[in-house]
Amino acid sequence: MSMNGYILVEQSLKLSGTVDLIGAKNAVLPIMAASILTQGKSTFYSVPDSSDVHEMITLLESLGAKIFFDKKENILIIDTVNINKSEVTQEVMDKMRASILVMGPLLARFRKTRVALPGGCLIGARPIDLHLKGFEKLGANITRDNNYFYASINQDKKDQQIVLEYPSVGATENLIMFSVLQKGTTNILNAALEPEVLDFIQVLQKMGAKIEFDIPATIKITGVDNLKPIEHKIIPDRLEAGTLLLAAAITGGEISLPNAIPSDMDLFLEKLKQMGHKIEIGFNNSNGIKLIATNNPKATDIKTCPYPGFPTDLQSPMMAALCLAQGESKAEETVFENRLMHVKELEKMGAQIKTKNSKAIVSGVDLLYGTQVIASDIRASAALVIAGLAAEGKTEVLGIHHWRRGYDKMENKLKKLGAKIKVVEV
Ligand code: UD1
Repeated sequence: MSMNGYILVEQSLKLSGTVDLIGAKNAVLPIMAASILTQGKSTFYSVPDSSDVHEMITLLESLGAKIFFDKKENILIIDTVNINKSEVTQEVMDKMRASILVMGPLLARFRKTRVALPGGCLIGARPIDLHLKGFEKLGANITRDNNYFYASINQDKKDQQIVLEYPSVGATENLIMFSVLQKGTTNILNAALEPEVLDFIQVLQKMGAKIEFDIPATIKITGVDNLKPIEHKIIPDRLEAGTLLLAAAITGGEISLPNAIPSDMDLFLEKLKQMGHKIEIGFNNSNGIKLIATNNPKATDIKTCPYPGFPTDLQSPMMAALCLAQGESKAEETVFENRLMHVKELEKMGAQIKTKNSKAIVSGVDLLYGTQVIASDIRASAALVIAGLAAEGKTEVLGIHHWRRGYDKMENKLKKLGAKIKVVEV
């Protein structure tokens, strides 16, 4: 895939139409890792053809898995019978942060694993201390050799309780994958409960894992001897939903997302309503979200938090919309320490934003102007495309590899709604 090239976006007013959402990237990545816990062929439906999924395919293949991906039908078949390696090289790990998710299942399957430090977006330091501390509490012995971690199980520690200092999505998933095949019970307190984590847990339960929930934010796992392969359809991507809703909102349009799950995005929808947009939910067997945009959007404040708070992954796309909302909006990022890099780019387009540390104050302007901007992470690429749809003239968004990492050709969905958008590879 080319790192060069750009997304060319022209002002496209009143986007309108109906879109079917693809499965969530953030659900399918841990689910693919969980297949390591089984021996056999699992089939997954609604799998996004995004480059992070391809990186995970490469990783699993490097371990010996056989994989078939029908990109058109979005069907992924993973055969894990021949997985015979417990080691992942730096080169493979470097491709994305989510590669750390294989550590738990490899440790469970082989009782030892050697993985390199994962790579990933530059949205913060993104340490893996919570993963490592959790594995140690569960009986793993971990040593570090330069960029590699070697973990092995020397003694079974039955009936453990882990209290996460922060409800990390990845650490929660990794520790669950390790625990499902351990003897005794493991309680994870202050666990992440994002909708993607719940979809992933549903997959493990189908595989035969014993997982229950308790108040407050506790996941209780009782180990079983083995897990079996399954079939599963990935939950619709609430981040793709959010991006498309914002694209319709910022252009004064109307959009219907029949398979969106409204209960996964309550606070986000509330914020769209506070801006003045009309939202209808539940028209498709309690699923479905429809947005009818106001032409006079108002400012609102957002603060990112773990679920059910405002999702960090929708902070930058939302900020693009706030740039054109009347009044002053406050936006605060609390999940990642370096996730306001899109501010500088939005300013190039005429946005008025003041920042201090992880806080921003956005003063709404009447118009944004197309220019060349750089996407620094997946969600920033969506933010800049959204801004470009409303901006006068043409916007060139550099960094298409970020767009490709997170979305399954979302430019086609936007085109269907009337957007003038083209991915130019050079
Ligand atoms: C996942 C999502 C990502 C989303 C994020 C937060 C996937 C593949 N990616 O990422 O899109 O933005 O959740 O909703 O699902 N942290 C530590 N130590 C750790 C682990 C995390 O300090 O051991 C910190 C991170 O640096 C970050 C915060 O905790 O500041 C949240 O990270 P985490 O929830 O782990 O996010 P990811 O699982 O990496």
